[in-house]
Amino acid sequence: MNKAFFLLTTLSTLYAQDPYAALLFHGNCTTCHHEQKTLSAPAVVTFKKRYMDAFKTKEDFIFYMSQWVVSPKKETSIMHDAIKKHGLMPELGFDLSTIEIISRYIYDTDFTQRHPNH
Ligand code: HEC
Repeated sequence: MNKAFFLLTTLSTLYAQDPYAALLFHGNCTTCHHEQKTLSAPAVVTFKKRYMDAFKTKEDFIFYMSQWVVSPKKETSIMHDAIKKHGLMPELGFDLSTIEIISRYIYDTDFTQRHPNH
């Protein structure tokens, strides 16, 4: 492997992991959403799969997830079963651009391969 290629792949790996996005996600979502287990709210793997099935492109996934998280409503939910079980998710008060960063991180991260400690 030549050096330039190595540098590029290293940088793109770092970018994909985006530490700022990871921090936003863990600071604001995993208090309720465990990555792999459904406890007081659906697991991240569960709502991610539901959004993956419902929205075919990355852009749509990020767009619809962000819109919903900014202002959670029963009428726009695609998880009525989860609302019945846990109650509607509260509004968190973040702006759209912050939620977009988090939604993009959720799209880009494979939570099924990780071993989270919470
Ligand atoms: C205070 C607890 C809590 C926090 C914090 C929280 N959620 Fe939720 N969330 C829930 C509950 C409960 C549900 C299931 C009921 C529902 O869908 O409204 C849910 C549902 C969802 C859904 C499914 C939407 C649908 O169509 O119904 C998505 C997507 C989601 N959360 C994303 C996030 C993201 C991203 C964050 C972090 C920015 C976050 N949540 C933070 C409690 C929380």
